[in-house]
Formats: sequence, C-alpha cells, structure tokens
Amino acid sequence: MQKRSNFTNKLGFVLAASGSAVGLGNIWRFPYLAAQYGGGTFLLIYLILAVTFGFTLMTAEIALGRKTGLSAIGAFKSLDRRFGFVGVLAAAVPIIIFPYYSVIGGWVVKYFSVFVSGGVKSAAGDTYFTDFISGTFEPIGWFFVFMAITAIIVLCGVEKGIEKVSKIMMPILVILTVIIAVYGLTLDGAMEGLIYYIKPHMSDVSAKTILAAMGQLFYSMSLAMGIMITYGSYMKKDNNLESSVRQIELFDTGIAFLAGLMIIPAVFAFSGGDRSALNAGPGLMFMTLPKVFASMKLGGVIGTIFFVLVFFAALTSAISLMETIVSIFRDKFGWSRKGASIFVTVLSLALGIPSSLGFGPLSFISWMGMSVLDIMDFVSNSVLMPIVAFFTCIFIGFIISPKTLADEVKATDGIFKAEGMYNIVIKWIAPIFLVIILGSSVASALGIFTI
Ligand code: PFF
Repeated sequence: MQKRSNFTNKLGFVLAASGSAVGLGNIWRFPYLAAQYGGGTFLLIYLILAVTFGFTLMTAEIALGRKTGLSAIGAFKSLDRRFGFVGVLAAAVPIIIFPYYSVIGGWVVKYFSVFVSGGVKSAAGDTYFTDFISGTFEPIGWFFVFMAITAIIVLCGVEKGIEKVSKIMMPILVILTVIIAVYGLTLDGAMEGLIYYIKPHMSDVSAKTILAAMGQLFYSMSLAMGIMITYGSYMKKDNNLESSVRQIELFDTGIAFLAGLMIIPAVFAFSGGDRSALNAGPGLMFMTLPKVFASMKLGGVIGTIFFVLVFFAALTSAISLMETIVSIFRDKFGWSRKGASIFVTVLSLALGIPSSLGFGPLSFISWMGMSVLDIMDFVSNSVLMPIVAFFTCIFIGFIISPKTLADEVKATDGIFKAEGMYNIVIKWIAPIFLVIILGSSVASALGIFTI
C-alpha cells in the first residue's frame, strides 16, 4: 500500500486547504447572494453561521480525515458500515458542482481575454454580459477552455506548481480587491450600498435567507462534500487542528467580505438607486465590475490583472474539485489516473453544457424562476449539502460520539478551546436546525407553503 504523503507543516496545510476553499464561491457567489438576500442581514447570518456551524463542521471533517487516514467514503465506512452512504452522498456534490463551476470559470477566462485585448469600454456596456451568456457556442467554447486547462493540470500531475503560483497570487488578489473596493466607495451613491451591505434588518430574516447563507457557507468552505475529510487525511498529528481551522475560516470569510465590499456598493453607484439591480444573480460580478474598471484611470490594466487573479483562485478550486472526483472513480472502479481523468473530463463537459445553454437556447427550462445553472447550484448547495451535513452530525453526535473527534483535535497539545460549543452544535443545534431549514425550504419548493 502506498504511504499517504503529508503536509509537512501547518502553514502548508492551511494554504492548501485555503486554495480549495477560496475560489469563485468567495468572489462570484457570495456577493450576488448577499445582494439578493438583504445585504447586512445575509452578512450577519453568514458570520454567525461561520463561527458556529462552519467552525464545528470543518473541525469535525478534518479530524475525521486525520483520525481514519481515509477520504470520505472510506472514512465513514471504516467507523460504521451503515454510514458509508453519507460518503457516497458527499461524493455526489463535487460531481454536480464541478461542471457548472467550470462554466463560470469560462466566463472569467472570457472577461480576461476581453480586458487584455483592450475591451474595457465594451465590457461595461449594459447588455454586454447578457448578450454573451445568451449565445450558444461562445460560452460553451470558454467553458471548454477552462475545463481543458484544469484537466491538463490534473492529467499531468502539475498541481503543485499551480499551488505555488497561486500562493503568490492570493495575497495580491486581496490587495487588489481592497484597492477596487476603496475606489468603488468613492463613487456617487456607493455609501447607500455600503450601508445596505453592512447594516442588518431583522425584518428581512427568513428561512430562505438562512438556507442560502448556510448553503454558501458549505460551498465556500468546501464543506459537506468530503473535501475537508480528504485534506484532513493528509494532515500530521503535530499540526494544531483547531488553530488551522480558525485560520482557513478567517481567510475564506475575509475574502468573501472584501468581494462583497467591492461589488455591492458599486451596484448602487451604477444603478442610480434602482434596487432591482441587486437581483442580478450569477451575473452580478460580471455586470458590475467592468463598469467600475471602465470608470477608473488604469481600468483596462487593473481589470486584466483582476481577472487573472480570479482565474487562479478559480483554477485551484477547480483542480481540487476534479481531483476529488477522479479519486472517487479510481477508488470505486480501480481505474488508472489517466483513464479516470479523461472520463471525468468528458462527463463534466457533457454535464456542463446544459448549464451553459440555460441562459440562451435552453432558457425555456426553468424551475421556480431558476435557470439550469441555478438549479444545479440549488440542488447541490441547498439540498444535498444540508443532508450530508445533517448525517455527518448524527454520525459524530450519536454513533462515534463527539469525544472521539475531540480527542483527535487534542492530539497535538491536549487543548481544544471550543470543545463545549463543538459538542452542543454537532449533537443538537446543527441537526435540529438543519431539519427545520431543509424541511421548510423543500416544502416551499414543492409549493406546500411559502416562506
Ligand atoms: N470552496 C470553493 C469556492 O468557494 O469557490 C468551491 C469548491 C472548491 C468547493 C473545491 C468544493 C471543492 F472541492
């Protein structure tokens, strides 16, 4: 048997896990959800969930991986055969996410190419984005480009090189985001947007908002899909687990917050007070940022650099998604790395095409006002992930006992500061909450009642 290679130090672990966690979820998805679900209300709910649920689940998943030395399917099964299905459900999540993630990745590559060829003014046009995504072949072409780059990296096994590059890119992305956000705040009307983004309105709180925030938390932190279990299986015992989780969370949430700060006030500035602009959904970043860049002095250059950096953030996440899917098929069917990689590429290309066409030729497919891409996103984030999270909590809380994993957390220095919170969140608060939220959202989706 092959020995599992380890991350040599804690920083290596934190950076690798952050490379998976920080991606389009932070820069593209968080701002449009926050815009849509009440700004400050969404932000506050997200932050509360991050320090309670997010912390608990990430700690538990990493500890589960480190304790068993296995990835999701094996980890659950090795501790209790009956719970192997949780690993299987978790494995379905990246299979659904990866194709449409790459569709968005394709949009990023397209915008990079437009900016690099001096198209900053045209990209800022009101209908530029919708004209682009409603096409047939162009968005599919860019989707294929993004997928091909990811697949070649995974096939050639050069992820380590990309990770090294992205470690340099990531801090630059943070700095650039701050610069763009500060500039955006100087625009006329932006202050109203800032207030909308940071001031919660308790009257806006609804089950739907909470579910959206929770789905976003799982997505952004790569939780409830087996990824952190796999990362944990490579973590050494002498690396402090609890503080690693804190650092990954801080990094991930910090970047999401900054992305919102960069986009939401700018939406207000450019929409002239028309609040319906907040409901743009997946297109929000692509419609708003080009306008910001077009109004800046060096906008063309800054926009180009920005899209390169976002591309790298998306690429490291896409690589981690694809790697996970490849290893699922290899473990299950004993395929070679090459065979599994080619299969996953073809499968994901086929699965991603409807998501891409859903904004154009397939726009007649709609469910509760959602396009194909939104449906994929909803099924994975708002249905499957909460189910996986629920069973993970039940498994830890009542089958193997929270103590088993708390001991794993303490393996480094005997300390687990947040053990009290972890215990009650994993055993009671999270499962009860998940059932209520999931139940009410499914009921409303089925039209039994509306929330
Ligand atoms: N957490 C990533 C993001 O926020 O973009 C998305 C993701 C990447 C999810 C890798 C799962 C994964 F394995």
